[in-house]
Amino acid sequence: MYQMGEEEVEAAARVLRARKLFRYNPDQGAGPAECELFEKEWAAKLGVPHTLLVSTGTAGLICALVGLGIEPGDEVIVPGYTFMATALAPLAMGAVPVLADVDAGLGLDPQDVARKITPRTKAVIPVHMSGHVADLDGLLAVVKGRGIKVLEDACQCVGGSYKGKRVGTIGDAGAYSFNYFKIISAGEGGAFCAKDVETYQRGRIYHDTGCAFRYDANKLQIPVFGGVNYRMDELRAAVLRVQLGRLDGIIAGLRKNYTKLRERLVGAPGIEFAPVHSPDGHCGACLYLRVESRAEAQALEQEGRAKGVGLALPFDSGRHVYTNWDPLMQRRGAFHPKIDPLHITEAGRAQKYAPDMLPKTLEHLERTVTVHIGLNWTEADIERTAQALRALFKNRQTANAV
Ligand SMILES: Cc1ncc(COP(=O)(O)O)c(C=O)c1O
Repeated sequence: MYQMGEEEVEAAARVLRARKLFRYNPDQGAGPAECELFEKEWAAKLGVPHTLLVSTGTAGLICALVGLGIEPGDEVIVPGYTFMATALAPLAMGAVPVLADVDAGLGLDPQDVARKITPRTKAVIPVHMSGHVADLDGLLAVVKGRGIKVLEDACQCVGGSYKGKRVGTIGDAGAYSFNYFKIISAGEGGAFCAKDVETYQRGRIYHDTGCAFRYDANKLQIPVFGGVNYRMDELRAAVLRVQLGRLDGIIAGLRKNYTKLRERLVGAPGIEFAPVHSPDGHCGACLYLRVESRAEAQALEQEGRAKGVGLALPFDSGRHVYTNWDPLMQRRGAFHPKIDPLHITEAGRAQKYAPDMLPKTLEHLERTVTVHIGLNWTEADIERTAQALRALFKNRQTANAV
């Protein structure tokens, strides 16, 4: 979360004073309430017909997959670098995650997706990590004409875009997170968007215990089925509506600082930028720099810390790296083997998950260091950061030359 102020406090107070905290309130009174208004505003910003607020980004991914018609025993390709929730989401409907490599920009590698496709592949989830957009053109070319759905995981890239279109709207569906660590937030929260009404309605039925609480269930074009409760509440929706008003300003501010920092590093000895698939559309949240090895990345991180420059290492980002996805590595895809897709489906039994299964992904993660961009950086902060990075990376070149 980058910004929060009195406007959010006022929005929350408005809902509390009205005592209307539940979104499907039959006597809501005049006009649509906060959740519905957010969905309309979010859909307008995205330029899609359907969005649904849900409780978390994980819920958004699961509802979208249910909406897209993913079934037990289907295979869903996910990158080996993403928050673990992406990889586990297919298990919720009995489907099986198939892990694929990321490229040097740390997005899903379309060439490895092509290698991982089987007759059971029904969906692919490109993930836009750390505000950077995955190679969507490459991916869409690979899946074209094969009946494979594309669900964009835009949980870390809310508001980003790819060639002029907002991320999440380029594939068949998109999922977003509004948890505390995301670009806009209400503490927890999520959403999904869909291009077609069936995906939206199926996701909507699923998120609301089969629509038990919905006042307009009779308007559905498809039969109701059992679901879970992933509903959003009015309190968080009211906060998110204010946050949404801040979104483009936050991204513009981050991108401005990102661009200024990057410009000051162009051509500096030892500085190598990782490829960026959407130079005009990433969120500006971080800058990826490439190095030769894990040892070098670790040395830079330590030296940077001593000099007051914060560098992060994607390889050390815990549950974002597939080697640390214990439920897959230890083959416990559910709380009981009798409902575990890894045990009860042919696709699940065929998947071999192992820490060394994606060596390219590990290499790209080992060879990347991340500079997080500050939204409130002053010109002096940017200059100081650039100078420190130039000094750090110049030493790197000297060390490599020895
Ligand atoms: C890439 C990615 N996908 C999915 C999620 C899940 O979102 P949430 O924590 O809101 O369930 C996250 C959140 O951390 C994420 O970073």
